Amino acid sequence: MKRIAVLTSGGDAPGMNACVRAVTRYGIAAGAEVYGVRRGYAGLMSNDIIELDSRSVGGIIRQGGTILMSARCKEFLEEEGQKKALEVLNGWGIGGLVVIGGDGSLRGANALHKLGFPVVGIPASIDNDIPKTEMAIGVDTALNTILDAMDKIKDTASAHQRAFIIEVMGRAHGYLALMAGIAGGAELVVLPRTILDKDMIMQEVKSAFLRGKPHFIIIAAEGASTPDKSITQILMEYITEAGHDPRSTVLGHVQRGGSPSCYDRLLGTRFGAAAVDAIITGKTGVMIGIKGGEMVTVDFDIVSSGKSELCADILELAEPLSH
Ligand code: ADP
Ligand code: F6P
Repeated sequence: MKRIAVLTSGGDAPGMNACVRAVTRYGIAAGAEVYGVRRGYAGLMSNDIIELDSRSVGGIIRQGGTILMSARCKEFLEEEGQKKALEVLNGWGIGGLVVIGGDGSLRGANALHKLGFPVVGIPASIDNDIPKTEMAIGVDTALNTILDAMDKIKDTASAHQRAFIIEVMGRAHGYLALMAGIAGGAELVVLPRTILDKDMIMQEVKSAFLRGKPHFIIIAAEGASTPDKSITQILMEYITEAGHDPRSTVLGHVQRGGSPSCYDRLLGTRFGAAAVDAIITGKTGVMIGIKGGEMVTVDFDIVSSGKSELCADILELAEPLSH
């Protein structure tokens, strides 16, 4: 009987639990014993491992966060740390590891794979910045959380005819800002690579209110910040200079929590089952991804060397729809 271990690493994402549940139950149904590593690579190095059965993952499909807990772990960046992890895995007689996490965690998975251990990765990060998969676990739920906040902020912004800046997560990628900006009907979307034109932004705000808009909502990506100032501070200054009295909300970690959406539960479940299939059939050293609605496997090296780009068609939609 094959022993499979599963861990969650890096920034947690809603739907990770659905994925842990699928790895456990699908793995057991396929005849494997399944083990959960707590606290990501940190727990792997320190032998923090528990056996999982079908009951231990009961009721978790609707929970945000991760029952296995997550961590960022500097020691694992070094080969010494990775070898320590290997010793632990071999000590338990584990024959395959499923790593659920973001791009950093998947680089860690590749490092273990290169040391000869069978690993399969699953993309999970609200940032949706992992190459070669259309979606990662957690993105859909985070977008819905942002939309909920936007809708509420619009109510109060309209009541006071205010300009509002809503800063969202997403690191240097800007996916959350772009998608939420379009789906939430923002007046302006500021992305990490947006060249900030102060005069243009001041003019836009003035002209929007003159055209009868009841509010001016800016969705700003955290990755558009400069080393000296956050993007929220920069935009607050511009809009104040334009003669308005803006307000701002930095959504922060609220975007990472909450019960996963239907999409994320299904995606986590499908990814988890596909990862077990990959381990059982010996197709390791790969990330499971989704392309055109289908499960795909992509070699870790292709994932690591790739770059995730925002879709050009969607980028072009943002400006005309904001008027
Ligand atoms: P995420 O997985 O959400 O992108 P991080 O980038 O913080 O989060 O990565 C999570 C963990 O993965 C790191 O703390 C580290 O332990 C491991 N990791 C990241 N990059 C590498 C790498 N190049 N080699 C080995 N391990 C890595
Ligand atoms: O990668 C996910 C993410 O939530 C980013 O959007 C954000 O910049 C970062 O993690 C925050 O990390 P931490 O949880 O360490 O504050």
